[in-house]
Parts: sequence; structure tokens; C-alpha cells
Amino acid sequence: MNKILVTGGAGYIGSHTVVLLVEAGYDVVIFDNFSNSSKESIKRVEKLVNKKIELIEGDIRSKDDLQKVFDAHKIDSVIHFAGLKAVGESVEQPLRYYDNNVYGTVTLCEVMAKNGCKKIIFSSSATVYGDPETTPILENFPTSATNPYGRTKLMVEEILRDLYISDSSWQIVLLRYFNPVGSHSSGTIGEDPNGIPNNLMPFIAQVAVGKREFLSVFGDDYDTHDGTGVRDYIHVVDLADAHLKAVNKIDDFSEVMTINLGTGEGYSVLDMVKAFEEASGKSIPYKIAPRRAGDIATCFADPSYAKEILGWEAKKGVKQMCEDSWRWQSSNPSGY
Ligand code: NAD
Ligand code: UD1
Repeated sequence: MNKILVTGGAGYIGSHTVVLLVEAGYDVVIFDNFSNSSKESIKRVEKLVNKKIELIEGDIRSKDDLQKVFDAHKIDSVIHFAGLKAVGESVEQPLRYYDNNVYGTVTLCEVMAKNGCKKIIFSSSATVYGDPETTPILENFPTSATNPYGRTKLMVEEILRDLYISDSSWQIVLLRYFNPVGSHSSGTIGEDPNGIPNNLMPFIAQVAVGKREFLSVFGDDYDTHDGTGVRDYIHVVDLADAHLKAVNKIDDFSEVMTINLGTGEGYSVLDMVKAFEEASGKSIPYKIAPRRAGDIATCFADPSYAKEILGWEAKKGVKQMCEDSWRWQSSNPSGY
């Protein structure tokens, strides 16, 4: 069976994807510098799949670190999750984000090419659509970015397209995730943010478990059904499954594939609060706060291209997202 290199495989989406890859019979090598994760996540994944997983600790900005992977393993394809992802931090530390996300990806591609490995699946984001004029969002909508994090995603997409133009033997898939939430149904792996969570779902989960007093709802005067922001929340296991399907199909693609990964349904902040209360049996106190800079009213995908190209569609609904997220949070109140 083919060997897959998973950069950032100790992180939130990477760890869930590794579980599915191993269960499907792939050999996996994780490459991570643990800048935003811990080795414990890999131990938990090993327990879930009942198998030891190869790990090479290193930084995607280091050619020497990456070469160690290719010296030790014959890698068929790379799923590239490694990156920094906090929007606010990217505004404060733009050079760190460009260095890690852009330079890191360029370095990874250089080492891949040198070793004759030219298949890559890249973690992009719905943030590349900026503030869309209409929803649902199709892959051919105009792109823009309002912060350095978003710009790193757009830049890497462009770099990978240029790479393909220069050498069409590359096989490249750009996956644009909407809002990943939830966790593995075992509750043993999940999202473990450092410090105060920036994102809605981990914040709600921490309020439910008593770690935070209340949720600040960022704005209730948007043009949405209840005035709060609407997003396309997607279960992380569905997202992981899309990566599995992309790896299975990558040899069939003869152009750079750009694919939305969402459910096609939008839920407001208050819809999510209610769903989480029902799933957890806990009340989630909240206060209305001012809008957060850079936020948009509504964002949800048209996921039909993913169905057509990958034969993939999201199966898990908001109830399951909340139940699984609560199982992880309540059994691991302090994370890993
Ligand atoms: P995460 O922080 O949990 O995982 C990223 C992993 O990459 C971490 O384990 C981190 O230690 C590792 N890493 C970071 N820089 C590295 C480097 N230079 N060298 C080696 N390893 C490095 O994040 P995640 O939520 O799993 O996101 C994975 C990818 O998906 C990221 O590229 C992110 O930008 C993208 N994405 C995430 C979301 C989301 O909401 N979680 C949405 C859209 C896109
Ligand atoms: C954010 C990022 C986006 C990134 C994505 C995944 C911004 C502006 N956008 O998307 O670039 O790709 O995370 O990492 O940061 N909310 C609250 N209270 C909170 C937290 C969030 O009301 O404490 C609201 C937000 O206003 C929004 C919704 O919940 O309406 C979802 O927010 P969040 O989970 O941060 O995701 P996005 O803003 O969609």
C-alpha cells in the first residue's frame, strides 16, 4: 500500500485524518514540529488504530529535516496540514506566518520534487473567499484576503498552481475547508487550542465544561435569520474522509483541483449554542458583544463539486458535531 506523508499530522485535523488513512490500510508517516500540538495526540491515535505510527519530528522550513523523511521512506503522496492558523496572531506577527506557511510550503515542495514525489493535498480555507457577494459559495467565486493568515492560503494556492504550470507531472489538490468542528466519536482525540479559543465551537465547549463563564456573541445585527453570524460547520471526521477520498483519487486528476469542503448548510452562532446545550445538557450563558473585526455575516459552501469529483459528501449533522465535541471536552477538560 502507498505511503503517505502527513505534515502537521499531530494537529487537530491531521490526527483525525491519520486515523482514517491507517484504517483504510495506508502506511502513514507523521511529520510535525509540535509548535501547536503534543505527542499525546499521536499516542491516542495509535491506541485507536492499534498500530504504531511512524513519526519524524521536524520543521517544514528545514530541508534537512524533510530529507530525513525521504531518506527513510518511499513517500507516494503528501497531505500538507502543517501551518499556523490563528487570524489575530497573523495580524500581529505577519512575518512569522509568511515564513511558516509560505516559505515552509515552498521548502516542502522543493524537497518533494528533489525526491521525485509530486502529489500534494493542501489545506486551504474558505477564508480565501473574503466577503462573498452571494451564498452558497462556489469554487469559481472571486478570492481575496483581509489578513495575513488568509493571504498565506491564497499565496500557497497560487504557488502550487504556478508549480503545476511549470511541470504538469505534479498532482495537486487544494481543499478549501469551511468550519471544522467536532471530534472522533471515541472522545479520545479532539481540538485542543492553546489559551483562549479564537473559534466558536471550542469556546462554547469550554463554557459548557465550566472553564469559561460565558460566551461573547460577536454581533447580533447581521443580516441573518437571528442577527448572528452564519457559518458552514463541518464534522472533522467528514473532513478527514474527504482527504482519504482525495488521496484515493489523486492519480485521476490532470489539473490542479480546487474543492470546497462544507455541508452546504449554514447555522448561526445562536443555533450552535442551542444545539450544544441540547447535546451536552449544560446551559451556555452568553452575552451579546460588538462585532469582531474582519467577520462576515454569512458563509456556506456549495459542496456539489466535492460530490462530483471525490464522491464525497458530509454525513454528520450539527447534533453529532456537538455531541462528539462534548464527549471530547468533558472527558478531557484540560485537553491532552
Ligand atoms: P493545528 O494547529 O491543530 O495543526 C497544525 C499542525 O501543524 C500542528 O500539529 C503544528 O504543530 C504543525 N506545524 C505547524 N507549523 C509547522 C512547521 N513549520 N513544521 C512542522 N509542523 C508544523 O491546525 P488544524 O486545525 O489541524 O489545521 C490544519 C491545517 O488546516 C492548517 O494548515 C490550517 O490553516 C488549515 N485550516 C484549518 C481550519 C480550522 O478551522 N481548523 C480551517 C481552514 C483551514
Ligand atoms: C475563523 C477565521 C478564518 C479561519 C477559521 C478557521 C476570522 C475572522 N476568521 O473563521 O479565517 O479560516 O476561523 O480557523 O477569525 N463567534 C462568536 N464568539 C466567539 C467566537 C466566534 O460569536 O467567541 C462567532 C463569529 O463571529 C462567527 C462564528 O462565531 O460568526 C464562527 O467563528 P469562528 O469559529 O471564529 O470561525 P470563522 O470566523 O468563520
